[in-house]
Amino acid sequence: MKFGRNDMCWCGSGKKYKSCHLSFDERLAVLASEGKMVPTHEMIKNKEQIEGIREAGKLNTEILDMISEYVKEGISTGEIDRRIHEYTIAHGGIPAPLGFEGYPKSVCTSIDDVVCHGIPDENRVLQSGEIVNVDVTTILNGYYGDASRMYCIGEVSEEKRHLVRVAKECLDLGLDAVKPWGYLGDVGYAIQTHAQENGYTIVVEIGGHGVGLDFHEEPWVSHIGQPGTDIVLVPGMIFTIEPMVNMGLADVWQDEEDGWTIRTDDGLPSAQWEYTVLVTEQGSEILTR
Ligand code: MF3
Ligand code: CO
Ligand code: CO
Repeated sequence: MKFGRNDMCWCGSGKKYKSCHLSFDERLAVLASEGKMVPTHEMIKNKEQIEGIREAGKLNTEILDMISEYVKEGISTGEIDRRIHEYTIAHGGIPAPLGFEGYPKSVCTSIDDVVCHGIPDENRVLQSGEIVNVDVTTILNGYYGDASRMYCIGEVSEEKRHLVRVAKECLDLGLDAVKPWGYLGDVGYAIQTHAQENGYTIVVEIGGHGVGLDFHEEPWVSHIGQPGTDIVLVPGMIFTIEPMVNMGLADVWQDEEDGWTIRTDDGLPSAQWEYTVLVTEQGSEILTR
């Protein structure tokens, strides 16, 4: 689609194209002509959308902060789900997982060898020594925020604590690699390198995702990669980074009975942390902190 210089910009800012995204599009066109993968306009959010997603991200963070004091030995994952559901509704939000492609609960709770998409259960009580990921996604005024944290329950082995720590470092190093006019492959490379240096592996089948106007948007975010490859990152893109770091082998399988739970093949633990991230003119902004 070609826009006249004096037409309204495609981003919905209400400004003229020439004083909004014209030079931006020209820069992308040069990169595309050099064979780079460039984002589509659908992947770029305007100011109003960013503000809405920032607000959804804030509520999402509040929910994680709220639940953090309860994620202790003796609580059931069903109770975590119930508290998150009630708090979200009470604050004007909607838990995005509930009913998403048939998902039955309001949050994902993934314990030990469960990599992600663990389904909360009233009968599954957290035990000392376990590590658990709580993954919260909130819709507020139609906008989405998505983030997760790990919790160590009671007395956790140094081995598992180390996995949890390195997984968080992987997320933060991936975040540091987010640069306007950089590449998505830089992010995967940073994450993969740090995991490997620690003797861990990265799950390849499941990635992060564009987010904000919908739960899962383009681009798909690989947590492995090579510098200077994959899609060009530009200001206004919003996506999650959510590396799943395995203590053993990278292979995972999906529980066919519940249709959701993803586990490691070798039964060894996996850890994951997630942010929703905005690419800015200067670098990046975490929208879920
Ligand atoms: N919150 C997860 C993510 O980070 C997706 C969960 S999908 C669900 O992308 F249906 F299981 F909730
Ligand atoms: Co999530
Ligand atoms: Co996500």
